[in-house]
Amino acid sequence: MPTNLSTLDSSQIQDHLKSHSLKIGVVGIGRIGLPTALCFAKAGFETIGIDINEKLVNMVNSGNYPLKDEPEFDKIFENVIENKKFRAETNIEKVVPNCDIVLLSLPTPMNNQNIPDYTALLTVGKSLNGLLSNGQIVIVESTVEPGFIENELLKSIEGPEKNLISGTDFHLAVCPETANPGEIMHDFKKLPRLVGSIDEKIRPIVSDLYTNVFGVELIPMPNCKTANAVKLTTNVFREINIGFINELSLLFEKLGIDTYTVIEAAKSKYNFQPHYPGPGVGGPCLPVNAYQYLNSSKKIDENFLKIVQDARKINEFMPQHVIDLLADAFSETANSLENSTIAILGISYKPNVHDVQIAPSETIIKLLKEKNLNLKIFDPYFISETVFGYKTENTISDAINNSDATIIVTGHKEFEELNLQIFTDSMKKPIIIDCTGKINPNDAKAKGIIFKGIGRG
Ligand SMILES: NC(=O)c1ccc[n+]([C@@H]2O[C@H](COP(=O)([O-])OP(=O)(O)OC[C@H]3O[C@@H](n4cnc5c(N)ncnc54)[C@H](O)[C@@H]3O)[C@@H](O)[C@H]2O)c1
Repeated sequence: MPTNLSTLDSSQIQDHLKSHSLKIGVVGIGRIGLPTALCFAKAGFETIGIDINEKLVNMVNSGNYPLKDEPEFDKIFENVIENKKFRAETNIEKVVPNCDIVLLSLPTPMNNQNIPDYTALLTVGKSLNGLLSNGQIVIVESTVEPGFIENELLKSIEGPEKNLISGTDFHLAVCPETANPGEIMHDFKKLPRLVGSIDEKIRPIVSDLYTNVFGVELIPMPNCKTANAVKLTTNVFREINIGFINELSLLFEKLGIDTYTVIEAAKSKYNFQPHYPGPGVGGPCLPVNAYQYLNSSKKIDENFLKIVQDARKINEFMPQHVIDLLADAFSETANSLENSTIAILGISYKPNVHDVQIAPSETIIKLLKEKNLNLKIFDPYFISETVFGYKTENTISDAINNSDATIIVTGHKEFEELNLQIFTDSMKKPIIIDCTGKINPNDAKAKGIIFKGIGRG
């Protein structure tokens, strides 16, 4: 029988936390859920990860781990496998009835009309209806729009007949995850967390649990929707600022002003926060979070959050701008873009991760493909894999040898301080389009390279 923590006094709760005598279920063991589950297990709690991906479950149980691009993840994985506090399962029915705490780290993507898709959370919510009983606490870590927990998820767990009552049979809370891919283990130990709940009495219990596991500051929120609004605001703030700097870059290119010089000098003003131009904004968070806010606001008024709509439009236009820069560069040569071979360096949506979700590279590749160009792709995080229908190259030289132009899309650390000589040695009449700001235009031009960069006036 699970422990009903809400009926205990604070010293009894502390006893459970100190002795780690609570069983934790984590539903969804992907990029966020698996490291989270391992942290609970490392702290000493018996933890079971639940995922519909059987291959992933088998992989994890056999001691093999995904997320090779996450620094420090190997250490915690090996430590937890040794202490035998963690295992993974596919069958939610078998696990949840015995858990005291159930974390939901399920995907919240959007569909092809940019409408948030909460199917995973609602499906699991519905199945929890038959599995919860004695006041277990369900904590949603997934990113959702404000009001989704109160208006939709709560109802799916309570069931249409309300055979489960929130606050008695179970408790619902949120603790939105704010870690950055590529820095997850670091962020888990450093970033404060937000806690909101449907019934207030559960909030300090969730706070104490997370303090026990992560040792970070917990910020109490008045309710779930405010906690979810904070999470969206931090990400959409970035989306808007990147949209602003991208649009400025389009202007500065016309005015002959270098965007990076402007940003560097603007940083001297104490309240300026630098954001950098790029080929668009991708990943499972920023673009989705913008559409989550837009989904919320349009239910009230289509004209709300125009600034978010505009930022999205600019950021979604940037891949086309990359193609325009490429066409411009070709127009400065005797060569024709038609039938040319283009090398693409970097396809991840952000530097140093193995992840192409909503990556601007996908749109860039699609636009190049529409022009029937030959493409060679190199990404140090995707060696010899098939991505977007192309087999990736093994080395940077394989990609640029005999290519007519190179587009540097993602600023991976492996592309820091690229020796420009490799381009002049391997390409016929080198053209470089830099989306990352890593290449100094003057150095490239001094080498006889035809250079275009986003925001380089
Ligand atoms: N990746 C990030 O950068 C990041 C950062 C902060 C917050 N978040 C949020 O965290 C949540 C999870 O994101 P993620 O990146 O870990 O996603 P992910 O796709 O890496 O992992 C989700 C996992 O859930 C599993 N799953 C899907 N449906 C299921 C079901 N019905 N039952 C059991 N398992 C199911 C999938 O198989 C997958 O392994 C999302 O809401 C996301 O927005 C993500």
